[in-house]
Amino acid sequence: MTLENKLGITDAVELARVEEKLSKARAHKLFTSGFLNTLPVGSFEALASIHHYLFGEIYDFAGTIRTENIAKGNFRFAPVMYLEVALKHITAMPQSSFNEIIEKYVEMNIAHPFREGNGRSTRIWLDLILKKELKQVVDWQRVDKNDYLMAMERSPIKDVEIKVLLKQALTDKIDDTVIYMKGIDASYYYEGYTLYKTEDITDDKA
Ligand SMILES: Nc1ncnc2c1ncn2[C@@H]1O[C@H](COP(=O)(O)OP(=O)(O)O)[C@@H](O)[C@H]1O
Ligand SMILES: [Mg+2]
Repeated sequence: MTLENKLGITDAVELARVEEKLSKARAHKLFTSGFLNTLPVGSFEALASIHHYLFGEIYDFAGTIRTENIAKGNFRFAPVMYLEVALKHITAMPQSSFNEIIEKYVEMNIAHPFREGNGRSTRIWLDLILKKELKQVVDWQRVDKNDYLMAMERSPIKDVEIKVLLKQALTDKIDDTVIYMKGIDASYYYEGYTLYKTEDITDDKA
């Protein structure tokens, strides 16, 4: 079963291809348009705006809180009935040091507010916090896929692995479009999307 989508696509492979192409074009524009810089950094509202910006032409649920409970591996993300309260709490969490920011990111991952697209949108949200508060971002090209996924699986229990992994990948090149676009490609690679390079697609060509 494919996710219900606005494009009427019923084939999973085709949906993945189109989703990758359209949303990478939007990810590109999100950065170059300056829209990212207008968002309230560290809030759920900012994450919802990013998610809607990426996936709004594909899914009706873009930018909106999920209405079903979901799990990955053995982990059940926050139950729907607690989500709104959890998101208010996470928005209010401090973000003045690297450790606080990663702890906030881990909590947002546990919330997993959307039906799909949490990983890709929340990594952009995380970089926005790091950029504003520390004048650094993660260079995702320097974060190995398996290390990342294992550290995130572990993170609800212990967050030391994800902290160490992301700390060694920090860069001061916060306004570098190439670092951003290659970071998007790495982020999509973690989730199994590898057909397009973000630098090759702009919104007009998507
Ligand atoms: N077992 C797990 N426990 C906790 N978090 C996980 C687990 N597996 C994956 N994750 C996190 O969930 C993200 C994927 O969420 P998902 O909504 O599918 O995002 P996307 O659609 O962008 O792929 C991963 O990038 C990782 O951060
Ligand atoms: Mg996914």
